[in-house]
Amino acid sequence: MKIALIGSGAREHIIAEQLARSPQCDQLYVFGNTLNPGIEPLAARYHVGNLTDTKAIQAFVDEYRPDFAVVGPEAPLAAGVVDALLEIGIPSASPTQAMAQLESSKGFTRELLEKYGISGNPEFKVFTSPDGLKEFAESLGQIVVKADGLHGGKGVLVQGDHFETIDQGVEQARAFLKSDGQVVIEEKLVGQEFSLMSFVDGDHVIDMLPIQDHKRAYENDQGPNTGGMGTYSDRENLPFLEASDLTAAHQITVETAAALKKELGTGFKGIMYGGFMAVKNGVRLIEYNARFGDPEVMNALTLLKTDLVEVCLAIIHGTLDQLNIEFEKKATVCKYIVPKGYPENPVKGERIHQTKAFQGVGVYYASVEAAGDDWVLGGSRAMAFVAKADTLEEAEKNVQKAVESIQGPIFFRRDIGTKTLIDQRIEMMRALRK
Ligand code: AMP
Ligand code: GLY
Repeated sequence: MKIALIGSGAREHIIAEQLARSPQCDQLYVFGNTLNPGIEPLAARYHVGNLTDTKAIQAFVDEYRPDFAVVGPEAPLAAGVVDALLEIGIPSASPTQAMAQLESSKGFTRELLEKYGISGNPEFKVFTSPDGLKEFAESLGQIVVKADGLHGGKGVLVQGDHFETIDQGVEQARAFLKSDGQVVIEEKLVGQEFSLMSFVDGDHVIDMLPIQDHKRAYENDQGPNTGGMGTYSDRENLPFLEASDLTAAHQITVETAAALKKELGTGFKGIMYGGFMAVKNGVRLIEYNARFGDPEVMNALTLLKTDLVEVCLAIIHGTLDQLNIEFEKKATVCKYIVPKGYPENPVKGERIHQTKAFQGVGVYYASVEAAGDDWVLGGSRAMAFVAKADTLEEAEKNVQKAVESIQGPIFFRRDIGTKTLIDQRIEMMRALRK
């Protein structure tokens, strides 16, 4: 089979690795926005271009006529790359532009859940003008302000973190109204966040394992938000969740997939990635993404035993119910190394060097260029390291050794996956639920 892959970050590196190692994959055709040194050796053809240039991607794919395509990042999904490929008769294991609104419009998703009576929404309102905005915000107590469109992680402002008073929040909301035409104001939830990603073929929803991401740049969840500094998963469930939390999150995704089908006429194909929060009395939906999470993909695909090509074909053909999708029952920890100064003033162009390779620790390249045996930092998250083991403790230890072996102007979060941090989360949920 010939397969096209759109995207060139660490997420696409691990996707490429899994596709390429399938006995069904003969050739991989990659359209990325950078030359990823991990993906390049796996690709029969590799083109560097703009990921939202749907015409260029269509022309590239049309030249090689693959059996199907996989689109990794959100920007090409929102730009309609899957629709452009359908026009030339190439199916994708990824959602169309209309379906990708699940991620690209916060208001769309909140209103969809409300319209179909799906549980999981916090109190919220979508505003297209400032009328009544201040009054509604005041009625909620603590608020979160969300720009409607994609803002690269900078469109969500949480009271207490990003602004202090309701008046400051209202001012921000007015600015988002100007830039996006629409803004969501919602109740601030208190609890523990987790990601539950699911394979969806239009009708069937197969969950991966729950994973916890760490968005803040510094240890103890301090500092600015990032694309995600690291993630962990345990053998079955996360240590601070109850089995009923997973059932509730699954139910929300099943009902949302069914609602999407009713609303848009066809089903969602690809990954529905729910960002959930376990709160004192159940589970709430923070947001949906329409793709694999990064770093969550590192944990999920490291554990996936089933051939990823089979999974993609089942998504395309609507036969996920006939495939036995299996994950290894192990714990995983992933840590990103990022340039000093990331995310606000990252160093760029500096060399980093790995003193030693570690058996059993996966390394996936993001914003780095190869330079002999070294890499050159590109300014965003540089490399993801992921280890799996029987216990979280062991996985954390192994991945920590690997990130410590990198020399150069980088940093990482030592605390991700450690017992101290996980115990704090278990304790927080215990106190909330009491
Ligand atoms: P999002 O881009 O929607 O994932 O939001 C980014 C981050 O903002 C989330 O990971 C949460 O930490 C936080 N957040 C979003 N919505 C809420 C909410 N309603 N209550 C509390 N925190 C939230
Ligand atoms: N883990 C955050 C994201 O992929 O959006």
